[in-house]
Amino acid sequence: MTTLNAAIIGGGAIHRCHVNALRQLSGVNLRALVETDSEKGLKLSMDYQCRFYQDYREMLLDDNIHVVHICTPHFEHKNMILAALAAGKHVFCEKPVGMNSGEVADITQAVENASGRLGVCYQNRLNPTSLRIRQEIESAALGRMLSIKAVLTWSRFGDYYRLSPWRGRFATEGGSLLINQAIHTLDLMQWFAGGVTRLKGVVDSGELADVTEAEDSAMATMHFANGARGLFYASNCHTTDSPLLLEIQFEKATLQLSDNVLWQISPAGRVRLVSDESPDGVAKSYWGLGHQQAIRHFYHAIFHPDEANYTDIREAGKSLTLVEAIYRSSQIRQWITLDN
Ligand SMILES: NC(=O)c1ccc[n+]([C@@H]2O[C@H](COP(=O)([O-])OP(=O)(O)OC[C@H]3O[C@@H](n4cnc5c(N)ncnc54)[C@H](O)[C@@H]3O)[C@@H](O)[C@H]2O)c1
Repeated sequence: MTTLNAAIIGGGAIHRCHVNALRQLSGVNLRALVETDSEKGLKLSMDYQCRFYQDYREMLLDDNIHVVHICTPHFEHKNMILAALAAGKHVFCEKPVGMNSGEVADITQAVENASGRLGVCYQNRLNPTSLRIRQEIESAALGRMLSIKAVLTWSRFGDYYRLSPWRGRFATEGGSLLINQAIHTLDLMQWFAGGVTRLKGVVDSGELADVTEAEDSAMATMHFANGARGLFYASNCHTTDSPLLLEIQFEKATLQLSDNVLWQISPAGRVRLVSDESPDGVAKSYWGLGHQQAIRHFYHAIFHPDEANYTDIREAGKSLTLVEAIYRSSQIRQWITLDN
């Protein structure tokens, strides 16, 4: 196949990252936009010079659509993935792939029976700083990993929840801070340390207690499969979207991600390793710059099946397991043991 036609479901905040990424790919064409809000959807489809559908099931009948991007509220992901795979499409879904491990199990089964692929958008794995951390871990040059500390403090005001009522509710978002904003941080922590074996966590609501049903802040202590310890804190109650602060301590040095710059700190001094700036010099936004790369990798896997390298359902399920475990631990005030 020389050209792949794409459709995007959901014309909200994140969909523009997908449109921009698709525009950079050769052999890929945005053929349709699906949006339940017809006024918004018609305007966007005119801007993009593509077809408009209000119902995604109608879009799935178009045999000339090969890849479906899901950019909708979380409670719709599972049914959309299942329907798109059943229609023979490839699917690229925004995180989280579903709302809980039960949904992940259903999706896993559907992927096993499907001809199409399912990729999930964990674009922060492709940040230059994340890739460098993985490289340092794989080379083992810094010795054994001792601990990972991650602090994510972002700002979400009442209107963010009031204007999109699916947010902040268990039935429609699957939670709040953990499953939406902090899931990338949990994913990176477990990815760097090869999985979590035990954790103890707490969730709570402070500033946003009046507008969200679920948590606005969370913390956890973790034990990783590689023997290291993890400390995690996240909150949506800050007054700005601060870049992720990450510290990974090894026997011989510490890697520190601060203001989107990765430093190596050792008795010999502090060395700047790499930063998350795009090649054209644009600084990393708090969403990261990785959508372009993540989407490129997914299409590359479709064009070149032998070179597949994207976040699949198995990988995408891991951070959701952590989200669930932190909720459960908070509820019963006990450590939770996890399978890896
Ligand atoms: N990867 C990231 O860093 C990142 C960042 C932001 C959002 N997201 C994810 O993207 C997804 C969407 O988030 P958002 O912030 O864009 O939400 P949003 O509320 O801004 O937009 C969702 C859009 O989907 C539309 N929609 C809802 N149901 C639909 C349906 N059945 N058919 C067609 N359109 C439908 C809504 O009308 C709305 O326009 C979520 O999964 C979210 O977690 C990911």
